[in-house]
Amino acid sequence: MPQTMAANALENLPLSVDPRFIPADRADPNDASQVVSLNPATGQPLAGVKLDGATQLDQAIERAKAAFLRWRLVPAPERGEVVRRIGHALREHKDSLGALVSMEVGKIRSEGLGEVQETIDIADYAVGLSRMIGGRTIPSERADHRLFEQWQPLGPIGVITAFNFPNAVWGWNAMVAAVCGDTVVWKPSLMAPLTAIATNAIADRVAADMGHEGLFNLVIGTDEVVGKPMVADARLPLISATGSTSMGRAVGQVVAGRLGKCLLELGGNNAVIVEPDADVDLAVPALLFAAVGTAGQRCTTTRRLIAHESIVEPLLEKLVDAYERAPIGDPLDDKTLVGPLIHQQAGEAFDAAIAEAKAQGGTVLVGGDRAEVSLGGCYVRPTIIRAPASNSLPIAQHETFAPIMYAFSYRDLDEAIAINNGVAHGLSSAIMTAGVQASERFLSPAGSDCGIANVNIGTSGAEIGGAFGGEKDTGGGREAGSDSWKAYMRRQTCTINYGDSLRLAQGVQFG
Ligand code: UN1
Repeated sequence: MPQTMAANALENLPLSVDPRFIPADRADPNDASQVVSLNPATGQPLAGVKLDGATQLDQAIERAKAAFLRWRLVPAPERGEVVRRIGHALREHKDSLGALVSMEVGKIRSEGLGEVQETIDIADYAVGLSRMIGGRTIPSERADHRLFEQWQPLGPIGVITAFNFPNAVWGWNAMVAAVCGDTVVWKPSLMAPLTAIATNAIADRVAADMGHEGLFNLVIGTDEVVGKPMVADARLPLISATGSTSMGRAVGQVVAGRLGKCLLELGGNNAVIVEPDADVDLAVPALLFAAVGTAGQRCTTTRRLIAHESIVEPLLEKLVDAYERAPIGDPLDDKTLVGPLIHQQAGEAFDAAIAEAKAQGGTVLVGGDRAEVSLGGCYVRPTIIRAPASNSLPIAQHETFAPIMYAFSYRDLDEAIAINNGVAHGLSSAIMTAGVQASERFLSPAGSDCGIANVNIGTSGAEIGGAFGGEKDTGGGREAGSDSWKAYMRRQTCTINYGDSLRLAQGVQFG
């Protein structure tokens, strides 16, 4: 699909109906009252968006709060019906929305579509959940008493998302929050405001048509004017934030200061261990997708390879070959596997990491420089850097949002697990092995310390059915499937006395 065809696909999306939308010919990067969304593939403006301020933030929170008071009383399965129809609307718009994701953040076509599919999947999941939210009944120590817990809606939820998953991360939060009886105030990345406008409008329109105004609210503004006051606002009992560790640390402190709840999904520094018995035909494509997919701009991207010393050489040879053959270019060209980085600063961060790695004794095996693509965006060549024999490469401690993989070698599995765990982040991890002992050790309490631990697949591309998130500097939050929904509800413990005398717990006698 060429760029012009994708641009036409945008006509099908509810963009220009938003009063904030400014067509490309009037988008002005020098006008401080707007943000211009650039196509990273070409560097050209897609459109401008008028920035919201404090007043719009306040209005959005008030709208979400008022809607919550009504929405919390709607039976959960009925809330699920609204989400079911949102899922249908997303299906209808999948092609256009996927094209918009590709145009706004530079994902290749298949990944842009995959992202919208991820939102559709979580909508389906939430529909099922709407009939399954349940509480436990616990044996009471007192005769004629029933002790149980139930889950109540929490309130309007603040959702902050990053540029790299401009649709699905909202979906993980908004679809689950909605069936839990919550409403949403969304602050998207200023690098992807158009995807946010279209996504929010699709969901909001479905809900409004079914008589539920105000469930989904969108505030597009700077961190200073919108982000900081939103995080500090006690009307939002939960802030779910995705982004860098430094952002999450700041958000976490402010929310903790007001005793609010936080769900943080921050960076990763994910590794894949390759055992001597690993199937190389499985390991190479798994590593290629996980390290190079989305041009290395997923929080789950494989950033470190930890390969057994007996197989590291032939494995790297095969990887270098696969890297060299991965087509770089227009993300809308079906042949492309590596699209652009989000902006020039990301390219500069890539250059700086490469320079530092070299200065620290790393050897560039493939890539390490910019790719020649005449479209105008910032393109880099996927890179593998071999650590020196000492295995010491301090730059590998840091997450650079670009396709750079640092390669380490190891002698025994304990050493490999120590390298895997020896970074500040704890999001995703994987081992490639045919052996049950190695994989079970990797999954044991002494194994990977990450929120996600995979065997014979890479670190990225998680399904929505599991809980998604990680430990340490990744922030500890869990989103999407499993019991992540509990973060969006408040737990209530209830004791009912159906007898006719007052019995006190712990055998206390009183009077
Ligand atoms: C992210 O990069 O913030 O597991 C989310 C994955 C995707 C989600 C990534 N399902 O790679």
